[in-house]
Amino acid sequence: MKLRLLSAGWRLSIKRSTGFVAWWRTLLHTVMLKQRGYVLVVDFGGQYAHLIARRIRELSVYSELVSAYSNIDTIVSLAEDSWGVILSGGPGSVWETKFSTLVQRLIETGKPLLGICFGHQLLASVLGGSVGPAPRPEYGPTIVELVASDPLLEGIPRRVRVWMSHHDAVLEPPPGSKVLARSPGSPVAAFRLGQIYGVQWHPEVVHTEYGLQLLSNWLTLIGAERGWRPENLVESLVEGVRRAIGNSKAIVAVSGGVDSTTAAVIAYRAVGDRLRAVLIDHGMHPLGEPEYSLRLLEKAGLKPVLVDAREEFLSALQGVSGPEEKRRLFGRLYAEVLKREAEQWSAEYLVQGTIYPDVIESGGRPGASLIKSHHNVAGLPRELGLDVVEPLKWFYKDEVRRIARALGVPGEIVYRQPIPGPALAVRIEGRVTREKLEIVRKADAIVREEIEKRGLHRSLWQYFAVLTSSKATGVKGDERAYGYVVVVRAVESQDGMTASPARLPWEVLEAITWRITSEIPEVTRVVYDLTPKPPATIEWE
Ligand code: XMP
Repeated sequence: MKLRLLSAGWRLSIKRSTGFVAWWRTLLHTVMLKQRGYVLVVDFGGQYAHLIARRIRELSVYSELVSAYSNIDTIVSLAEDSWGVILSGGPGSVWETKFSTLVQRLIETGKPLLGICFGHQLLASVLGGSVGPAPRPEYGPTIVELVASDPLLEGIPRRVRVWMSHHDAVLEPPPGSKVLARSPGSPVAAFRLGQIYGVQWHPEVVHTEYGLQLLSNWLTLIGAERGWRPENLVESLVEGVRRAIGNSKAIVAVSGGVDSTTAAVIAYRAVGDRLRAVLIDHGMHPLGEPEYSLRLLEKAGLKPVLVDAREEFLSALQGVSGPEEKRRLFGRLYAEVLKREAEQWSAEYLVQGTIYPDVIESGGRPGASLIKSHHNVAGLPRELGLDVVEPLKWFYKDEVRRIARALGVPGEIVYRQPIPGPALAVRIEGRVTREKLEIVRKADAIVREEIEKRGLHRSLWQYFAVLTSSKATGVKGDERAYGYVVVVRAVESQDGMTASPARLPWEVLEAITWRITSEIPEVTRVVYDLTPKPPATIEWE
């Protein structure tokens, strides 16, 4: 049976789990009713579309994305049931796209609409304004001048620094509308026509000053009630998994990270000993792992089984060098090991800690490009033959942390830095070898130790070392040395979707550099990565 869920475009193929389907319906329904509504974000494929939904939830209003490529009637009916609709940015040009029917239909719903960037241009164009190449393309920080007062702009200074990313612009406002703002490259940087607003800049991006204020003003304007509390859903989540799995057996792969642990704890509460939690030792873990994770998971009330697959992973991974190739291979191996375990356990269900952004960044969105294949989403092949239960699929990381806290998951897990599924395999540029694994493992341990002993990790999203394939000349013990270049990366982030390099104290960087170059003979150079996401990603591969 196939069901198109609210986040249309993602099809969940469910064979036996009609209970699960019913549960999701009930859950979503409960969510909508409990929170008495939601904001719909129509995703035109822009890189920040997800952030919009994320910010709305941060403002305690439930929000979901629907792809603009979904069936128009579906989008319109979701819009009709919502508090209001946000039209996201997107990579296209208004005149090249076929979205005018969709936008026209959204306007006809009479719901409050807010267009952002491309969404702003689409609305302006369909409402009779003119859109064309911007007098000056704007990318990055831009000063916008507010030229009219409006409840949407309440509390925002007249000149404000915002984040822009556009080469087209609204040149003439729609007839009858009020121009609210302008910038050097946007004669109509914001407009209002009744309940319809458009803004050229990105209020969802942290670099936009008063961005959250603007979104909050809009939520007030549309009368959205602020009741979204993910932790209130714990009981429904447990009940949903119980109904989905019924009397069958399930398996869950745990890593010791917050997502898989939370999903496992929910499932364990739901079906008790009919759940088997496995921790796969793939040999690519950081120093001290997976033993440390095992202890934490036991503290969380789980009884994970450790599966030793180190040789299997290492011998296969030695043969590939491309990042996507590595991720795919890792995913395949992982699935194979899991399949064996599932068969032994006679499991029919696979519980996964997939969270909302995992699906997105693995190219789950039409119109958006594949960034990277998260092995836990894209890599697990359908042939696994198990029905998938993903209780956290609709939640962002910080929401998962709130759910984890409500479930009593130990703080060491809740606030642990994320480790990508393929772990150190994607922190070694090129081929993975035993030698390189040892080097990156030692370097990584030094980075962690120096940061953690000063308590700096509490404000960091992630901090780790990467082993590049570059080599550089150095001097060690008065002799020429030609060794590896190690990159240190430490980032601040709220949800991993955007990130800024951490301004680590100089003496910490010095201490890390000194220790890595003196304790690891194969390394001659240490560099610090200053690149934010975007344009970089957090991981190197
Ligand atoms: P990027 O590198 O895409 O990473 O900026 C965003 C966040 O996701 C983590 N990450 C992964 N997590 N499986 C995971 O479970 C993966 O394959 C994977 N790749 C990246 C990354 O560590 C960061 O927190």
